[in-house]
Amino acid sequence: MDLRVAVAHKWNPDSWKACEARHLPLYEDPAELAAAEGTLANYPPLVFAGEARALKADLAEVSAGRAFLLQGGDCAESFAEFHPNNIRDTFRVLLQMAVVLTFASKRPVVKVGRMAGQFAKPRSSPTETQGDVTLPSYLGDNINGIEFDPVARRNDPARMVKAYSQAAATLNLLRAFAGGGYANLRQVHQWTLDFMGRTPWAEKFAETADRIGEALDFMEACGIDPATVPQLKGTSFYTSHEALLLPYEQALTRQDSLTGDWYATSAHMVWIGDRTRFDGSAHVEFARGIGNPLGMKCGPSLEPDAMLRLLDTLNPAREPGRITLISRFGHDKVEAGLPALVRAAKREGHPVVWSCDPMHGNVIKADSGYKTRPFDRILGEVKGFFAVHQAEGTHAGGIHIEMTGQDVTECLGGAAAITDAALGDRYHTHCDPRLNAAQSLELAFLLAEMLNREGADRRADAA
Ligand code: PEP
Ligand code: CO
Repeated sequence: MDLRVAVAHKWNPDSWKACEARHLPLYEDPAELAAAEGTLANYPPLVFAGEARALKADLAEVSAGRAFLLQGGDCAESFAEFHPNNIRDTFRVLLQMAVVLTFASKRPVVKVGRMAGQFAKPRSSPTETQGDVTLPSYLGDNINGIEFDPVARRNDPARMVKAYSQAAATLNLLRAFAGGGYANLRQVHQWTLDFMGRTPWAEKFAETADRIGEALDFMEACGIDPATVPQLKGTSFYTSHEALLLPYEQALTRQDSLTGDWYATSAHMVWIGDRTRFDGSAHVEFARGIGNPLGMKCGPSLEPDAMLRLLDTLNPAREPGRITLISRFGHDKVEAGLPALVRAAKREGHPVVWSCDPMHGNVIKADSGYKTRPFDRILGEVKGFFAVHQAEGTHAGGIHIEMTGQDVTECLGGAAAITDAALGDRYHTHCDPRLNAAQSLELAFLLAEMLNREGADRRADAA
């Protein structure tokens, strides 16, 4: 369906079915699919609409240049890696990054996990061949299994129900950590000091870490500590994933009893991937009718006019905080490609959050055969993103990264200088290579330098 026609159409949670849907699995038994959808439709929402609105308000602050967005987590969550320690460690690294970024930017950092629902993956090829055997590609644990055998690779709707349970348990633990005392600011900084003892780049980061410690000491001397200011014991933490698997999303789309508006209750924020944001897409049609904050990936194939049409469809009221545009050009393309998009959004008065995904445009195949991402290119794209926004007078609003709190060896480089030969040591990802705990924190410290500079420019402009 033409998008302009679709816009004129009344939206409902299944109006996407009349549009072109790419990257959706085919299920061989409609009864099996209907049973799973029916089960999910009776399950409680994972998030409350009011929380999605709170995130939208926080993101509106980012779009106005008064806050920074940190979004990160797995490329693909999996049933095999589901473990409380993995959830805890990813959450902990995101908090550590957030403290460093808050300090550097002197702005609140909005924390959003790619967690508690980030399962389904668009794949470049519908099939995978090993030797002389060809099977359907792995599409994510909520659709089929990663093992290279025909039984595992069958699309199984019951996996959606299992994914819901895992998302619910993950979110439950995240809520407990965020509100129960684990996120205590002093504690988070102590973890960063422990990390400083291990990173070969400690000297490079010492000044920032010391200054954070001094700021905490000063606050404590003034009587501002977790005992007197309970906010220092907790934090807001939101969840997000790509709203790719529309039968799952539809089953969890509910009408908010307070406002009458529809919300995806599978996560606070959902995004549309680079491969499903075309004119007439079922995924765009679904997203336009839900009240959640939305992300949209912007890669090199997105023309400014197409972006503006999508923005008009997804955010006709130009509501701040509604749209986060997540650019993912590649380290060598961002400075050439991003300005046209930034200018178009600015010219048309779309109050978007600009966030940088430095992961998806920087994948290479290492000599060892592993799919990897060099740390230098990731950092290079972030630098290019900041340079573009500085030149355009817009706010470099956030980053979107694939990372884990574990000590994996999936991305090359970083302070520990992970080499091609070492990739095989702990390469555990179910899809794309992730930054490990140390590389994530290193990126935060390097980003802090860029945010410091942005802040200095801002203060100079104001003077
Ligand atoms: C992703 O974020 O995992 C992803 C598939 O990204 P993109 O849509 O930008 O390729
Ligand atoms: Co990915």
